[in-house]
Amino acid sequence: MSYTHLEVDARGPLRVAVLGVGWMGRFHAASVAQRVPGLVLEAIADPDEASAAALARRLGVAKVAADADTVLADPDVDAVVIASPPRFHPAQMSQAAAAGKAVFCEKPAALTLSGLDAGIANVEAAGVPLQIGFNRRYGAGFARGYRLVREGAVGTPHLMRSLTRDPAPLDPATIKPHAIFIETLIHDFDILNWFNSDAVAIDAHAVAAALVRPDWAPAGLLDTAVVTIRYDNGALATAEASLQTSYGYDVRLEVFGPDGMVTAGGAPEPDARHYGSHGVSAGTHQLNVELFHDAYVAELTDFRDLVLAWRAGIDPARFARQRPAMAGAADVRAALAVAEAAIASLQCGTAVAVDHSVRQATA
Ligand SMILES: NC(=O)c1ccc[n+]([C@@H]2O[C@H](COP(=O)([O-])OP(=O)(O)OC[C@H]3O[C@@H](n4cnc5c(N)ncnc54)[C@H](O)[C@@H]3O)[C@@H](O)[C@H]2O)c1
Repeated sequence: MSYTHLEVDARGPLRVAVLGVGWMGRFHAASVAQRVPGLVLEAIADPDEASAAALARRLGVAKVAADADTVLADPDVDAVVIASPPRFHPAQMSQAAAAGKAVFCEKPAALTLSGLDAGIANVEAAGVPLQIGFNRRYGAGFARGYRLVREGAVGTPHLMRSLTRDPAPLDPATIKPHAIFIETLIHDFDILNWFNSDAVAIDAHAVAAALVRPDWAPAGLLDTAVVTIRYDNGALATAEASLQTSYGYDVRLEVFGPDGMVTAGGAPEPDARHYGSHGVSAGTHQLNVELFHDAYVAELTDFRDLVLAWRAGIDPARFARQRPAMAGAADVRAALAVAEAAIASLQCGTAVAVDHSVRQATA
């Protein structure tokens, strides 16, 4: 008996480091290590070194650092997944890009448009690929709904509605100011923009309150919000969020136009129903990593393909055009611009124009 020698890719698998292995980063790290063929988890960085080390042992990773700098300086790291808190995103994407590493960055990729513009400018100057973690686009119902709307199933949208209801027990002390717009509703802003991608958002008008924890209202907590958005093709949209539901993780979209309506999300889990004397009941997903399990894996699979294409000399922008769900710099900028307008609107009480002008700043 002897070996059969096969043609293999001499460049080997992509070696990925994950920066920040809290709730989201832990899932991404496991996807890199176990769920996406062709990716290898090379290193992880998190200031909470004890829990990072425990995760590394579980996933069989030898390299763990308390600081992202160590990982970003590691020549064995080809690409990074940034899942640290958003205030670190612009600097970490800039540093990764300067070191020639491809970047997958969780939303929102910055807390402000000026910070985001600086991070994007540095990535573009370095010429490395950048993908943003707008996973909702990869949900099966959302992907199918997108195809239908793009094929003209509803005509030019008249009314659009996107909502997020999060079942995580609300700890008001951990909610950062305006997080409902910057971290939660940014998903809705992106999905509305994506489904209506022939148009741009003109302005946003927000109302918000602390209805889950009114006792935290004096401290400025916002746990419930509605934003109306006008688009330049006439479409009127609403995005709404609650940071606490009693019944599970609930994410839905409606796109209504002259020729019909497309909906996505809101499906019970799985498709089993209980028919009894009480009537009919069905389960719900409780966690984002349950509801969007396959979507999170699919976005990293696209990232792998993007980076491999880039290594093979294909322009990342050209490659991204073949993957309609893949979100990039312009998409996260458009979504964060709506979030900033919503926050400004809350402060002045009227609709605020969405800022589409890119600013010069430093990360
Ligand atoms: N796409 C989604 O559905 C989704 C869901 C949840 C969170 N997120 C995003 O993921 C990011 C992380 O959120 P999370 O819920 O996992 O938060 P988290 O607080 O659970 O985890 C953040 C982790 O980053 C670590 N950290 C802090 N400073 C760091 C630094 N400078 N470098 C590296 N790591 C650092 C923390 O110790 C912590 O372990 C946020 O941008 C959030 O918006 C996305």
